[in-house]
Amino acid sequence: MVQQNSTTPTTTPKSAPLVALARYLLAQKYTYTTITPESHKIVLDRRDEKLKNVDLGDVKVTLRDVFGLNVWFTRKCLDLGQDEEGRVLGWLEEAGVLERRKDANGSEVIRSGVRFSTIGTSLYMHSSFPTAFNDSVFLGPDTYRYVDLIRSFVQRLASTPNAIKIKTAIDIGAGSGVGGMELARFCGEYGVEVERVVLGDINEKALEWSLVNAQVAGYVPVDEEANAKNGATTTNGTLNGNGGATHSNGTNGTNGTETNGTSDKPHFPPTTLIQPTTPTTHLHLAYSSYLSTLPSHTPLSLILSNPPYMSSTTHLYSDGGHSSGLGMSLSIIDAAVERLLPGGHLVLYTGVAILDGGRDPLKEYVTGYVEKGRVECVEYREMEVDIWGHELREEGYRDVERMCAVGCVLRKV
Ligand SMILES: C[S@@+](CC[C@H](N)C(=O)[O-])C[C@H]1O[C@@H](n2cnc3c(N)ncnc32)[C@H](O)[C@@H]1O
Repeated sequence: MVQQNSTTPTTTPKSAPLVALARYLLAQKYTYTTITPESHKIVLDRRDEKLKNVDLGDVKVTLRDVFGLNVWFTRKCLDLGQDEEGRVLGWLEEAGVLERRKDANGSEVIRSGVRFSTIGTSLYMHSSFPTAFNDSVFLGPDTYRYVDLIRSFVQRLASTPNAIKIKTAIDIGAGSGVGGMELARFCGEYGVEVERVVLGDINEKALEWSLVNAQVAGYVPVDEEANAKNGATTTNGTLNGNGGATHSNGTNGTNGTETNGTSDKPHFPPTTLIQPTTPTTHLHLAYSSYLSTLPSHTPLSLILSNPPYMSSTTHLYSDGGHSSGLGMSLSIIDAAVERLLPGGHLVLYTGVAILDGGRDPLKEYVTGYVEKGRVECVEYREMEVDIWGHELREEGYRDVERMCAVGCVLRKV
């Protein structure tokens, strides 16, 4: 069982108002489960219809309306009492995430530029609705299924005699940081030791927001500069500085030696936090395309990923590359086969376009590696048999009979 010690939670200055807001929500026992964009829109449209002849100035809103459903509202309508309302709006303003616009009558209405969702007892900040920007920070129903897969993996590992110790794990495409942080939480719950978890992403906003979410979860930032001045070993000294400044989806670049993609230098410095529990888990946040932040000699025991898997989109969080969106998932399998230690695992949650005639291209790819004796397939299951059905009208899905959500766990031989 994990022991929480009494270290006072601290925050990095830039994220302080958002961390304070999230801690306030937790104290208020806030809960919200994020649904699909289609369902979310239906609920918002229904609400708009109900309120179409009502002055928004008369409509009280709750914390769930503001931070879950993400509605527009007027000042003074947050149903919390004046002091509390001032604090909540103050945090949003201070963090620069209070959105403003005029309603039909010319009055100002406001909205939170961030959403908060709960997963179990954890709270995660992610992008406002709809996630329409290239750098939107993703959290959705896929994330919940991904977390389920991680939990069952940790549970199985805990009951496997002589299972490999998790020295370094990486969540490729960490988004708001859910996968890596829930992994650490489950490892604590089931008594599996995990030394360090790397949250890697090519979206710097995702890394900045993961930093907020990590602090809310109780991780404490490590002052690497002060450590270095005092002659102490830095805890992230084994990460590549900028994680490989180029990136590409589903093409090259799975191992830090990219040949393709953009080449602008990322600004997010690799950042380390510590979970003040026994045993300690280090959390590293780093710009990373696939595994590019990990030098090739890193002994890698676990790769987690819920990568983008859609065809024909332009968002970082959803564009999965070639093969009807499967490109990035296949590249992650290649990277796992190449880079994992023997006995190490890949836990991959992804969407698969099942081709006409019922062919599953992901299963075929995995089977190829199994037949060559490179990996064992520990688990391969359809976690949802029909997702994104409306996308089948799109050009990229011309030969596809359905999309499904797959959980795949491989063990390196
Ligand atoms: C579907 S989101 C998943 C986010 C999070 N893991 C979750 O489950 O909620 C995919 C994430 O992969 C990131 N991504 C896209 N291409 C990447 C690449 N080449 N290397 C690393 N991350 C990438 C996106 O920025 C996005 O945050």
